[in-house]
Amino acid sequence: MTQYTTDYIRYTWQMINGFRAEHEKSLANFRQRDLSHILNGARSLQILDLANGRLRPQFAILKSAGHQIYGIDFINRPTTSPTNIAYGVARQMYRWKLQLPQSAMTDDKLLCGDVGILPFKDDSFDLITSIAAFEHFLDVSSVVKELYRVLKPGGMVWACIHLFTAPSGGHNLSFAQLPLRTLPKGVEPWDHLRQRRLPFHVPLNEWRKAQYIAAFQHHFEILNDYCALREGEHLLTPAIEKELGQYTRDELTCWAYVIVARKPADGGASVE
Ligand SMILES: C[S@@+](CC[C@H](N)C(=O)[O-])C[C@H]1O[C@@H](n2cnc3c(N)ncnc32)[C@H](O)[C@@H]1O
Repeated sequence: MTQYTTDYIRYTWQMINGFRAEHEKSLANFRQRDLSHILNGARSLQILDLANGRLRPQFAILKSAGHQIYGIDFINRPTTSPTNIAYGVARQMYRWKLQLPQSAMTDDKLLCGDVGILPFKDDSFDLITSIAAFEHFLDVSSVVKELYRVLKPGGMVWACIHLFTAPSGGHNLSFAQLPLRTLPKGVEPWDHLRQRRLPFHVPLNEWRKAQYIAAFQHHFEILNDYCALREGEHLLTPAIEKELGQYTRDELTCWAYVIVARKPADGGASVE
C-alpha cells in the first residue's frame, strides 16, 4: 500500500471519528479568542474565507454563526465527478460532527478565482480569514495588497499558515498525521530543508515567518503573531538543530503560524 492510500484511509477514519472536526473547532476557537471584539457582537459580519478548500469547514462554521461569508478558491467549480461527490459526502460528515445546520453548507457565495486578483469592491469585508493556504500562494505580496484593498478600514485579517520550515512543511510526508509524529522508514526529519527531498506535491512559496510579517507590515498593523500548533519537537536532535542553525527552534517546530492584522481605521498609508 502506498503512503497516499494509507493517508486517505486514515483521513477518512479521522473524518468519521470526529478528529478532523475537533481540529477545525480548535482553530475556530483560536480565531474566536483573537477576534472576540468583532465576532462576539450582535452584528452579522461580511467575511471572506480566502482559499476555502474543497471541504470548507471554516466557511460552514462562520456561516452557521450568522455571518455573510464568501469563499474564493480555484476549486470552487460545480462538477459531478466522482471525486466531487466524495467531497460532498465528506462535507456532510463535517456538518454532522460540527453539529451545523444544512444551511451552513450552501455554496451560493463561493467564487472560483485567484486570491491575487479578488473580484470584490474596495472596503467590502470586516474580516478575511484563511487556513493552511498562504503557504501555497506564489505571489504573497500581491495577495496581501488585495486583502488591504477589499477590507474595510479597521477590518481584520486572521491567517493561519502551515509553515514551510515545519517538519511537514514540504508537503512530502503524511498529510493524515496532525501533528506529524512518525516518518516513513529511511526518511530523515526536515529532509525538505536539509536535502531538498522532492517532489512537493503542491505549489509552495517556501516563505519564512519574517517574510510573512514583513509583507503584512507593509499594509497592516500586526496585532499578534503566534504558533497555534507545534510538531516535531521530539525529532529535533541537537545535531539536526545545529545543522539547521539558520532556522530558529520556534520556526522548525511550528505547524500553524497565526497572524492577526488590522487595516488602520483611517485606511492608513500602505507602504509602496
Ligand atoms: C491546503 S488547501 C486549504 C483549504 C482550506 N482553507 C482548509 O483549511 O481546508 C489550500 C487551498 O488553496 C487554494 N489555492 C492555492 N492557491 C490559490 C490561488 N492563488 N487562488 C485561489 N485558491 C488558491 C487551493 O485550491 C486549495 O484549495
